[in-house]
Amino acid sequence: MEPALLEPILHEFGSLLLRWAHIVAGMAWIGASFYFMHLDAALRPTPQIPAGKGGEAWEVHGGGFYQVKKYLVAPEFLPDHLIWHKWESYFTWITGALLLVWTYYYQATLFLIDPAVLALTPWQAFGIGAGGIAFGWIFYDLVCRSPLGRSDLYVGIVVFVFVVGMALFFQNVFSPRGAFVHTGAVMATIMTANVFLIIQPNQRKVVAALKAGQEPDPKYGKIGKLRSSHNNYFTLPVIFLMMSNHYPITYSTPYAFVIVALALIGGAVVRVFYNRRHAGHGNAWWCWGVAFACLIAAIALCLTTTPQGRLALGLPALVSTAEAAPAPVVEVPPQVQDVVMGRCSMCHTAEPVYEGIATAPRGILLDTPAAMERNKSLILMQSVLTHAMPPNNITEITPEERAALKAWATAR
Ligand code: HEC
Repeated sequence: MEPALLEPILHEFGSLLLRWAHIVAGMAWIGASFYFMHLDAALRPTPQIPAGKGGEAWEVHGGGFYQVKKYLVAPEFLPDHLIWHKWESYFTWITGALLLVWTYYYQATLFLIDPAVLALTPWQAFGIGAGGIAFGWIFYDLVCRSPLGRSDLYVGIVVFVFVVGMALFFQNVFSPRGAFVHTGAVMATIMTANVFLIIQPNQRKVVAALKAGQEPDPKYGKIGKLRSSHNNYFTLPVIFLMMSNHYPITYSTPYAFVIVALALIGGAVVRVFYNRRHAGHGNAWWCWGVAFACLIAAIALCLTTTPQGRLALGLPALVSTAEAAPAPVVEVPPQVQDVVMGRCSMCHTAEPVYEGIATAPRGILLDTPAAMERNKSLILMQSVLTHAMPPNNITEITPEERAALKAWATAR
C-alpha cells in the first residue's frame, strides 16, 4: 500500500460524494423555494378562507390534481400531520460547509491562498473565511432588524452593497477562485440561517400558539415570508458564484467584485420577472433586458480585463502587482521540469502554443518551477493516478516520465 497515493484518491472520492450530496440537496431546496414562491404568487381567493387571510391554487402534476390552500396566519385547527420544509436547506448548508473545508481549507495552499494576493497561513485563511461568513449573517440580520428593515428597497440596496463589499474584501485576501466561493458562501449562509434562526423558530411559535388555543401573532408569518423572499432573490446569484469556480475567466479579472454585482442584479431581476408573472402581473420583459445587459457587461469586462481576454483581443497585458512580484525560488528536479515543459506547458501556459487552446486550461499554469510545485497534487491526480492528462496522451508522455512525476509528487 502506498499512503502517498491512497490519500489523494480517497480525498478525490470524498470530494465527489460531498459535491454530489450538495448539488442534490441544493436542487431540492432551490426547487422548493421556486415552487413555494410560484404557489404564493398563484393563490386566488376561495370561499373557504376569509378575504385577505389566504387563498388557494389548483395544480396539475404527475397524473393528478392538487388543491393547495394557504392560511396566512393560521388555519382554524392544526392537523396532526404537518410537513416541514427545512432539511433541504440545512443539508445543503452542511454539505456545502464540508465541501468548503474539504476543498478550500484542507487544500488551502492549492485553492485558497494566493501568495501574490496575501501570504496567509492555512489557519489564517480558515479564520478569515469562516469569520467572514459568520460576520455576513450578523450584519445582514442586524440590517433586517434595524429601522431600515421596514423598507424592502433599503434592505435590498444595503445588502447589495454589503455583498459586493465582501467580494472586494475576499478578493484582496484570497485567491480569485477562493474569493468567489466565499462570497457565495456568505450569501448561502444568510439563506440557511434565515431558515434556521428566523423562519423555523417563528413557525414553531405559531404552532405552539395554535396548540394552546391562542390566536398567533400575524407578524411571525410576515417576517418569515419576507426572509423567504430574500432567499429567493439570492438563489440565482449564489448558484452562479458556486459554479463559477470551474470557469476561471469569470474570476480572473481585477474587477471580480463587479462581476459579483452584475450577477446579483442579473439573477435578482430574473426572479422578479417570474414572481410578477406568477402573480398574474403580466410579463415584465424589461427584467430580461436588464439581465441581458448585465450579461453583456460581464462578458465585456472579462474580455477586456482578464489576461486571457486581453490576449484574445490582442490588447497589451495589464501589469498586475501579482506578475510584478518576483517568483519564489522553488527547487524542482530538472528531469521533472523537462517532462512538464515538454508534455504539458504547451497548453498550460498564459499564451498556449497548442493549436486550438487559447488560454491556460482551467487557469492552470505549468510553466515555471513555482507553478509546478504549487500544482503538485493536481499533477499527481491528472497524470499519474489517472491518465486524464495530457488529454488522450496527445503529447505522448512515456510511462517512465509518469514514473518520474510520481516519484517527485509523492516524495515526503
Ligand atoms: C493539449 C493540451 C493539453 C496538454 C498537453 C495538457 N493539458 Fe491539462 N488540461 C487541458 C484541458 C483542455 C483541460 C481542461 C479539461 C476540462 O475542462 O475538463 C486541462 C486540465 C488540466 C488540469 C485540471 C483538471 C481539473 O479539472 O482540476 C490539470 C491539473 C492538468 N490539466 C494537468 C496537466 C498536466 C500535468 C499535463 C502534462 C502531463 C497536461 N495537463 C497536459 C489541456 C492540456
